[in-house]
Amino acid sequence: MERKRKRVFPVKLPQKRMAAGKSFFVLAVCLTVLCLCGCGRAGNGRRIVRVALGQSETHPQYLGLLAFKETVEEELGDKYEVQIFPNEILGATQKAVELTQTGAIDFVVAGTANLETFADVYEIFSMPYLFDSVESYFAVMEDSDTMEQIYTSTDKAGFRVLTWYNAGTRNFYAKKPVRTPEDLRGMKIRVQQSPASVKMMQAFGAAASPMSFGEVYTAIQQGVIDGAENNELALTNNKHGEVARYYTYNMHQMVPDMLVGNLKFLQNLPPQELEVFTRAAKRSTEVELEAWEQQVIQARKEAEGMGVEFIQVDVEPFKEKVLDLHQEMIQNNPDIAGIYGYIQSRNQRIRAWEERKEAEDIGEG
Ligand code: GCU
Repeated sequence: MERKRKRVFPVKLPQKRMAAGKSFFVLAVCLTVLCLCGCGRAGNGRRIVRVALGQSETHPQYLGLLAFKETVEEELGDKYEVQIFPNEILGATQKAVELTQTGAIDFVVAGTANLETFADVYEIFSMPYLFDSVESYFAVMEDSDTMEQIYTSTDKAGFRVLTWYNAGTRNFYAKKPVRTPEDLRGMKIRVQQSPASVKMMQAFGAAASPMSFGEVYTAIQQGVIDGAENNELALTNNKHGEVARYYTYNMHQMVPDMLVGNLKFLQNLPPQELEVFTRAAKRSTEVELEAWEQQVIQARKEAEGMGVEFIQVDVEPFKEKVLDLHQEMIQNNPDIAGIYGYIQSRNQRIRAWEERKEAEDIGEG
């Protein structure tokens, strides 16, 4: 039976004038891009390849994309010029995914929540406490056979994923401390614009406010919401730590970001050029993963300097609140059953390995 997909609309901010100004600016940029798309050529006849990114120029994903650009231009520089548009300059990510779908732009970096409306299987990553450990998360993300099946699942929508980027672990942060799930009661927390994210927040006992990433700072500042949930870089790169001073390590999700490419663009590439783009994408992931490790450590220090308190909590009570969602989500969306089973087997294998290692260490000690 086909499931009815609900569209999740962002909450409106009271900041009408600023929002209107921003929309106008974004619209103007989009129109410029769309006009340029007619020819899509630089002055020297090279095809311009446009990549949209929600993050800033210092973010690990931007550094990864620079490596993507470098690789493509080093090998195919006479034919392509890669242009990166950071800071949601081409519009909120959900919009940029649509622009990639139609071919108005060629690539976009998007969180998997933004892809759920195009392929049901992406809902798996919104499942709270899906991965037992970072090791398990990496093992799955680096399993190319499994990921290839997921990457091609959006072909029917007109785009394909080329690679993934680490986006760390998602945790709550708010204007007041969250130490137990009970503290979330009555709080309004921003979630990404996906039905699965809304459900998760409701299961935690908070009110869910779906909105785009770029709106979160002002929404917290103006009291439209009490907090949000994200990795540590949101505190510094996006300055959310200025308005939300309590960051709680409840670790509910590890959600990757994806480099999404317009399918026609990819399919029209001659095989040797596709190989270069594919290799460039892999290289961008290597660069991103390395930068991520360093930047999370820096972000913690910087956020502490901004006055953010990092709170360690017992994760179990948070887990208990949402674990029933696993079966509920699988029942509602059978497309995720296979990958769910596979991830559980990875979890178990890594857990068993860790237990063996611990026993050996004790034996040696
Ligand atoms: C992270 C993630 C983005 C996502 C954002 C969000 O920053 O990397 O892809 O859009 O969270 O919460 O919207």
